[in-house]
Amino acid sequence: EAAEKGGYPHFVLKEIYEQPQALRRALAGRIREGRLHLSELESIQGLLAGIQRIVIVACGTSYHAGLLAKYVIEQWARIPVEAITAAEFRYCDPIVGPETLCIAVTQSGETADTLVGIRQARERGAPVIAITNVVASAITRLSDAVLYLQAGPEIGVVATKTFVTSVAVLYLLGLYLGQQQGRITSEQMREFVTALERLPEQIEHILTQASGPEDQIAPLAKRMSQVSSMMFIGRGVGFPTALEGALKLKEISYIHAEGFPAGELKHGSIALLDPDTPLFGIATASHVYEKVVSNIQEVRARDARVMVIATEGDEKIRQHAHDVLYVPATLEAFSPLLAIIPLQLFAYHAAVARGCNVDQPRNLAKSVTVE
Ligand code: AGP
Repeated sequence: EAAEKGGYPHFVLKEIYEQPQALRRALAGRIREGRLHLSELESIQGLLAGIQRIVIVACGTSYHAGLLAKYVIEQWARIPVEAITAAEFRYCDPIVGPETLCIAVTQSGETADTLVGIRQARERGAPVIAITNVVASAITRLSDAVLYLQAGPEIGVVATKTFVTSVAVLYLLGLYLGQQQGRITSEQMREFVTALERLPEQIEHILTQASGPEDQIAPLAKRMSQVSSMMFIGRGVGFPTALEGALKLKEISYIHAEGFPAGELKHGSIALLDPDTPLFGIATASHVYEKVVSNIQEVRARDARVMVIATEGDEKIRQHAHDVLYVPATLEAFSPLLAIIPLQLFAYHAAVARGCNVDQPRNLAKSVTVE
């Protein structure tokens, strides 16, 4: 087992560090010479031409990837998108038919709720695209087309590299649909593709810093590891990032954590804040940056400890936060793929400091095959 961990103390840490390579593999062959090629979708082009809405069905971390995709697909393709957790979708008598593209996101390809939901959608005539990491898994037999993550095996129970690659593959699909709808010019496409291709080296940069002497994440996580509750806030694509940051923390460190849309905080959850409840704000460069900063100021006013994920070069944010973890600049849509890396590392180090079993957390399984 030690050999399989490749020198890392845990599979989770190994898989966090494998993310640049996993992302390269997910993009490989799909972006060539600055252009997008999704040959997997060629056979269903006719089905895709008639779609009027999209429903993304998934659970847990895969659902968070779906929530991110909602923001970008709507923006790029101007097709309405709903992301819904599979355990709800299957019981809500879903209104889907041949005009609704259903996208199943499931790294294992075996999640029972997702399989049942997608079976229902198929029975109602909806075209289905599966996004999964496992070749020939059950979901692939229920789908008209499959986009594999190509992330390599993920042994740790918590999803890390399969999250980043699920988001990347959903984004490629979004770009494909945007192109098909005639909503993305070739110049815009070049800009997106260039930014996507830079992401693996940008993730490497974050990981290299985190393993160097200047690392802030492990000491911060250690300091925070004894708190009983934490909050994560973000707006726009920062919101699903906050949800995923909170999920990672609770899954492996057992610290209670919740993610919220930053603007929603004042409608109730702000009552939870006190000096013993630290908060992570996702404040990377975006069109809602100023709004996030103002939400962070509301939090500071309650004496909560504020940690922020921000874009390199943003010195102004320091006056609003006790700790700032920087990530490289990218296009707003792609910022979650960078912002999530310090949050994964934070969860990992907090869990190690608490002596938790990070590779196999209590009560969790890699694929949930019960309904
Ligand atoms: C992720 O860290 C979790 N273990 C869990 O939420 C998971 O994402 C969920 O069960 C869905 O799994 P799937 O992607 O294999 O369908």
